[in-house]
Parts: sequence; C-alpha cells; structure tokens
Amino acid sequence: MSGKPLRSAAWFGDSDGGAEGGGGSGTGGGLRAFSHRSRMRQLGYLPEEHLGKPVIAILNPWSDINPCHMHLRERAEQVKRGVWQAGGFPLEFPVSTLSETFQKPTPMLYRNLLAMETEELLRSYPVDGAVLMGGCDKTVPALLMGAASAGLPALVVPSGPMLRGHHRGRTLGSGTDLWAYWDEYRAGRIDECEMSQLSCGLARSPGHCMTMGTASTMTAAAEALGMALPGSSAIPAVDSAHHRMAAASGLRIVELVREDTTPAVVMTREAFEDAAATVLALGGSTNALIHLIAMAGRVGVPLSLEDFDALGRRVPVLADVRPVGEYLLEDFYYAGGLPALLRQLSTVPGALHPDRPTVAGRPFGTYYADAETTGPAIRTPGKPVAEEGGVAVLHGNLAPGGAVIKHLASSPALLCHTGPAVVFDSYAELRAGIDDPALGITADSVLVLRGAGPLGGPGMPEYGMLPIPAYLLEAGVTDLVRISDARMSGTSYGTCVLHIAPESHAGGPLALVRSGDPITLDVGRRLLQLEVEPAELERRRRAWTPPPPVFRRGYGSLYAEHVTQADEGCDFDFLAHPGRDPFPDPH
Ligand code: FES
Ligand code: MG
Repeated sequence: MSGKPLRSAAWFGDSDGGAEGGGGSGTGGGLRAFSHRSRMRQLGYLPEEHLGKPVIAILNPWSDINPCHMHLRERAEQVKRGVWQAGGFPLEFPVSTLSETFQKPTPMLYRNLLAMETEELLRSYPVDGAVLMGGCDKTVPALLMGAASAGLPALVVPSGPMLRGHHRGRTLGSGTDLWAYWDEYRAGRIDECEMSQLSCGLARSPGHCMTMGTASTMTAAAEALGMALPGSSAIPAVDSAHHRMAAASGLRIVELVREDTTPAVVMTREAFEDAAATVLALGGSTNALIHLIAMAGRVGVPLSLEDFDALGRRVPVLADVRPVGEYLLEDFYYAGGLPALLRQLSTVPGALHPDRPTVAGRPFGTYYADAETTGPAIRTPGKPVAEEGGVAVLHGNLAPGGAVIKHLASSPALLCHTGPAVVFDSYAELRAGIDDPALGITADSVLVLRGAGPLGGPGMPEYGMLPIPAYLLEAGVTDLVRISDARMSGTSYGTCVLHIAPESHAGGPLALVRSGDPITLDVGRRLLQLEVEPAELERRRRAWTPPPPVFRRGYGSLYAEHVTQADEGCDFDFLAHPGRDPFPDPH
C-alpha cells in the first residue's frame, strides 16, 4: 500500500467514508462530494460498494461493427469479477472503436483521437486505475499512449486472436490468405462460388487477426513491455483461459493502484528495447515501428528507427507464424505463447532485460523463466525462421528521414534491384490504371505510390502492398519492387518499401519522382536511391507546388496541423512528450 490517498476520494469525500454514515446521507467533503455521492446512489451503488475503494475504469472498445472486439462486452464482466475480488470498484467506460476492417480511410487516422479520449477520460473522471481492453491493430497503442500520458496505473487486457481459419481442408490466416486467394481469383483460377465459401472460412470466431499482423504484434509488444500479464497476449479470444486472464487482470490492477505503479515506472528504455526485440523475433508488423516510437515519446524514452535496424541485425526470427512463417496464433499459443518465445529469445546474449519492473509486480525475467516450448510454431535460436529480424531501415536521397522494408516477407531476388519507376499519384489512380498494359509495367519496374502518407493518405492507409498487374500475375510474376509513403498491413507480404519520410504531400523527395526514373533498392546497403542528378531534382523541386489540404474542418484539420511523420511515430506534436496537465479539481 502506497499510503497515498485515492484520487477518486476527491470526488466522493473522505476516503475513509466516515462522514458518509450508514445511509450515504452524510455531508463530508462539502456540496460537490455530497452531490457526487447522491448520483452514485442514483446509479444504484451502496456507499460500502465504492467509498474508500480504488475506482477502476475498464476502457472497452466493444462495438457492433468490430468483430475483433465482439466478445469484450462479456469479457469486461470477468475483469469486474477480479476487481471486486481485490476490493476495488469497477466502472466500464465505452471508448471509440478502431475497426481495422471497416473504418476508412484507415483507423490510423483516429489512433491519436482514441489516445486523447483515453487520456482525457482518465483525467476527468473519478478514476484511480485503468484496464485497457482491446487488440484490433491501433487500439492497444492508442490506449497505452493515452494511459501513459494520464499517468494513472494501467494494464492491458489483450483481446486475443480469433481461431484458425478453415476452407476446404486448408488452414487459413485472415488477411494473408485473403490476398493470396484474391490474386488467384483475379487470375481466373477460382470462381465466385468458392469465393463465397471462403468468405465464411477466413475469419470464424471473435478475436483479432490470427496471423502476425499488427494486432498480434502490438498485443505481444504490450506484454513484452511489461504492461500486460505474462502469457496474456496469445490466448485465443474464445478460450476459457481468456476469461481467467481477464479476471486475473482485474485483480492485479487494484494492487497496482495500491502500489502506485504508473505506466512510466514500467515503460522504460529497457522495456522498449525488449518490446522492439520481441517484435523482431516475432517477424511482426512494420506498423510496430511507428506505434512503439509514438508510445515511447509519451514517456520521454528515446527510440528511433535506427534502434530497430540495429536490433534487427542480431535478433533472429523465432515465431513460425504467417505471413513470414507457417502457423497461426492458435498454434503459437499451443507452442507456449509469448513466454516460450521470450525464453528462447533470452538465450541470445543481451537480447532481453530480465530485471526491470512489470505490471505483474515481479521482474520481467519471471515472465519466461520457466516457459517451455511445446509446439512447432516457436523455434530455437539454433534453428530460427531467419537469422535476422524481419525489418530493415533504409536511407538515401528518396528517404532522408528513413523508410522501412520487411525484407523477410520480400523476394530475395529483388532485395538488390534497379528498375524504372512507374508513378501513381493516388491509390484511386493506381486502382484505375494498374491493369492497363499501356503503362508498360514489367517484372523490372519499380511501382511508386505517393500521396499515401500521414498527411496525404490521409492517415497513412495500408496501401503499401501495391497490386501487381493482372497480366503479370497471369504470366507468373508474383512480386515487384513497390515503394510508397503508405503503411502495409502486418498480414501483407512482397518487396514493399514503406513509410518513406518525409512523405510526398509534405514535399519529400518522393514528390519529385517521374515515371521512367531509375530507382535503386539495395537492402544489404540499406539504400533507397533515386538515380537522378541533384541539379535536375532541384529544378523539379522549384516547380513543385504543395497539394491542397485534405481537411477543412474538425478533427481532420487538427490532425493535419499536428501529426508528425512516420519516423517520429505519427503522434501529435503537442502530445509527443512526457508530463501531464494537473488533474481537475472536482469541487
Ligand atoms: Fe481487427 Fe485484423 S481486423 S485485427
Ligand atoms: Mg492490419
């Protein structure tokens, strides 16, 4: 027990409840406290149910439109069970849902909005600690960014992956296999009838995507940061273990409040290094680079693209999970889940920091010390999926602020390649023109998409896996070098250079490329180069005019005015630092 008075007591009067009296009709704490207590009676709560107890906000991004969170309304009940058991008082707060599938142009546009909502909810209500529920892609980064800025004790209840997909005797991954089947369909090798059956088999239970997409990557990163209980992130959403984990998290958050363990205590530089190493050992989503940099910014921890590149050179890929491997999250869970992977990773010298604090109340090393690997989805460092982590950071005159490639999901033959650019100024133009043979796209071409960054997209949509022309697919060409200022779904694959910074909309060099210009990608040298003379590029720059703003009002204009570029995490400049405003006076 920290002995610190509960923050919520400022709303309800003395934390000992002494002035309250048996019927909750006391006047301690003055008019406002009396009014707050009277409204708690209106809500149907007895004084002894909440007075003097840690108030735990359960932030719940459940929605009818979000299949990845469809079980969270029920799961919140299990969190409450744990909170009550530990002597706390749970209150559920619905928060904005970021559905990767349905929200356009991309939930990335709204990650910072959910982060702000989280911070402001926790600031403005009588809350002592928070349980952050969710999984669908941007949800966990948003909640952790907001909770870190609010500075109250918090932990994550990962929403858990869906079960394996299934179709005609084959095991399917959401996302990854969808892209593959869609290409087969476009090439005329499967028909409408089979596609209709496929639509029911790809995603067949509650839970987030069960490949190593952004959701699985970021829930694992939350666990590796020490912000979720050990072993929590890979539990399938519908497994009874998920109910038990939710209850255990409810129990634990009450203790975190009593210990006054805030996110800043756990989210240290060492924790971010471990989270980054974990992401790389998972062969995780490139989106994690943006999110972890943004999360680190909230607690003042320096973290850069170069940190990921350096780690990537020494951390092997140990998760044999699609898209870089064979299996799915359900298999990963049966193989021992994240603790088993961390134990394997811990045998790589210096890969992890076992002594740092976590929300479990014990050092990070205890997350994995006894974990056994019990299935083929987790490899040993002696027999990895790949010797190097899956992400490389590129620089060159096309990407002064850096660019990212998931080279493990790329074609080895294209990792050192020079070819002529074929430029598209928007995704609409790309979609309309990609199959037109008049563009002369060949297996040597470098497809360029611009106008898809944080400002231009807007929100940096996951357009980075540019489609391959149907006539090339029919001819058996399955990959091309593709470059953009967009992001790519963690479930995607191909030789796709992403996150080019600064983006074209902001006047980055990508804006100056013309079709026919040779572009060199050399992953070994970490190079992305536009082979055009500097004097010519200068001429083009002088002739370049900035595109008109995408937004003229509301959240969009706030976003456009303040969002940072991909190498800085795409947070808002006015939020990307530690410190919080004083809590409001509830009186
Ligand atoms: Fe929600 Fe993939 S759609 S995690
Ligand atoms: Mg995704």
